Amino acid sequence: MKTRTLGKSGLEVSALGLGCMGLSFGYGPATDKKEAIQLLRSAFDAGVTFFDTAEAYGANEELLGEALAPFRDKIVIATKFGFKEGQPTLGMDSRPENIKAVAEAALKKLKTDYIDLFYQHRVDPNVPIEDVAGAIQDLMKEGKIKHWGLSEAGAQTIRKAHTIQPVAALQSEYSLWWREPEQEILPTLEELGIGFVPFSPLGKGFLTGAINENTQFDSTDFRNIVPRFSEENRKANQELVDLLKTIATEKNATPAQIALAWLLAQKPWIVPIPGTTKLHRLQENIGAASIDLTINDLQEIENAASKIAIQGARYPAHLQNRVGK
Ligand SMILES: NC(=O)c1ccc[n+]([C@@H]2O[C@H](COP(=O)([O-])OP(=O)(O)OC[C@H]3O[C@@H](n4cnc5c(N)ncnc54)[C@H](OP(=O)(O)O)[C@@H]3O)[C@@H](O)[C@H]2O)c1
Repeated sequence: MKTRTLGKSGLEVSALGLGCMGLSFGYGPATDKKEAIQLLRSAFDAGVTFFDTAEAYGANEELLGEALAPFRDKIVIATKFGFKEGQPTLGMDSRPENIKAVAEAALKKLKTDYIDLFYQHRVDPNVPIEDVAGAIQDLMKEGKIKHWGLSEAGAQTIRKAHTIQPVAALQSEYSLWWREPEQEILPTLEELGIGFVPFSPLGKGFLTGAINENTQFDSTDFRNIVPRFSEENRKANQELVDLLKTIATEKNATPAQIALAWLLAQKPWIVPIPGTTKLHRLQENIGAASIDLTINDLQEIENAASKIAIQGARYPAHLQNRVGK
């Protein structure tokens, strides 16, 4: 697969990474361990060198530690700190002592002596970003982390953080159905030379066409509490999937591939991290890295998308409070 560099950090990764969360957390029961290991190793065999996890994703770091050990030195592992006891439901904890403890634990779980990219999962309103950056610098001096990043941070925090210790990447939601980062965040990142890692690049699965108003999610699936995934909003939002299907037919591709190719076409320093638990979908998604959307294709998407009003918030109110800080 082609590679990309995250901003001016020098951190080079495959043009598409793999979001590993769903293997352990968020979208129903965890995947069988053997199958998950096979999926992760197949991703590497297919050219993926960028693997995304977090302390907060259940046993995901342990899983990656085991699966990726045979080729650890050939890949980039990104993980995240910043929730109390690693649990998003308990709120934030980016106190320097917690950041350091989470890093130590991650090194053990990931079976490695360095983390390539360590993100703050959400900005902690109780801990100045200067203190967070200070803890990061201490970990860098010890060689325990190589780069750092932020997730769903606002432009002001990004600027402040970057002044103290250059930030390699911002990881925030971005896709054809969540384009807010285009307003202030992407110009800020471009100006500062920071890479962008869009999470949920397939709209949590919706943009692939595999979900409709009749889809039943597992009782533990996060999408049950996302307003955008209410039955009526799924029905209304099919309009966007229909557009992706039209473009996909023209390009002899799939809607998922068009959703990813569209992100790749926005900026050369954007690296989406689609997640899947299924081998055939992994292959399909990777195929997006070979699809070039022309200026005409992009214009056609832009014209049609601008007429579609997406229905429903991307987060319930209590989680919406945590983003853009
Ligand atoms: N920083 C943050 O706060 C944050 C938040 C959310 C996610 N993330 C990261 O971003 C990664 C990706 O985001 P995400 O998992 O939320 O959303 P996503 O990548 O947009 O979508 C994942 C969903 O799409 C389905 N899917 C994937 N490829 C498909 C295909 N070709 N056809 C049909 N369905 C397909 C998957 O189901 P199957 O497994 O059944 O294929 C899964 O339910 C996560 O794994 C995680 O590492 C970060």
